[in-house]
Amino acid sequence: MWSIILHGGAKSIAEKDAPANRAGCQRALEAGVEILKHGGNSVDAVEAAIRVLEDDPTFNAGYGSARNADGEVEMCAALMEGAGFNVGAVAVAKGVRNPISVAKAMLYEEPVLIAGDGARAFAAEAGERLCDPDAMIAMGKRSAHEERGHDTVGCIARDGTGCLAAAVSTGGLEGAPAGRVGDSPQPGCGFYCDDDIGGVVFSGDGEQIARMILAARVMQALEDLSPDQAVEAALAHLERTGGQAGGIVLTPDGKFGWGHNSDDFAVAIASSASPVPKVYLRKGEASHG
Ligand code: GLY
Repeated sequence: MWSIILHGGAKSIAEKDAPANRAGCQRALEAGVEILKHGGNSVDAVEAAIRVLEDDPTFNAGYGSARNADGEVEMCAALMEGAGFNVGAVAVAKGVRNPISVAKAMLYEEPVLIAGDGARAFAAEAGERLCDPDAMIAMGKRSAHEERGHDTVGCIARDGTGCLAAAVSTGGLEGAPAGRVGDSPQPGCGFYCDDDIGGVVFSGDGEQIARMILAARVMQALEDLSPDQAVEAALAHLERTGGQAGGIVLTPDGKFGWGHNSDDFAVAIASSASPVPKVYLRKGEASHG
């Protein structure tokens, strides 16, 4: 039994951008499904799905990331597996083509998180693809924050052996100070994964998500609540600081949960029991696909 859920960011999706958001999420889901249905593992599946989202300038991650106050792209990404609690994360990464693959290369290394020049040096040593930092700016694209509010992409998968993996990637916040890091690469804030409890990934206002440790709250809530209720309970805590967010959850028995207080939150899901991808642009919408 395998399952996969991903999101394309807690944000507002203009009508003209709806088809690109739907199609991008579906393509990314299919990349993950392709791995899972052939017996591949959840770590490879979430990496494959996130790479598709990173390569698509519709989403604020990888190519097409937001620009900081200096006009530069600084990206963050993390990957965690729920059997051994291994985490690989990079922050303020410049000039790496797929930050999620650098995070994956770090998964079984001693450091949990490497930032800045260290992240690029690690990527080079690991044989990950480097690029000119400016090559991650999608020409002709208005900034993510200016146009739609900031967002992040995320994915959680469970493979046929019952192992969970959670992944997150973000292009950060438009106009943020150089070196700013949000929730995304911080375990317990933007993501977490435990094969006995489930996986969770958040998107949205990074400072508020970090201050309220939303991923940790979901993990605790899953002991008593359904996946949807656990996300809703975490979002209710966010009311204490304000801020917009959306979260996805996958439990060890393959139950999905998701919720958001942003206008929109594109989500795609599939499982061995229901392999045709379902894609939504917001909670309550009838699925497409
Ligand atoms: N949620 C992503 C960030 O604030 O950087």
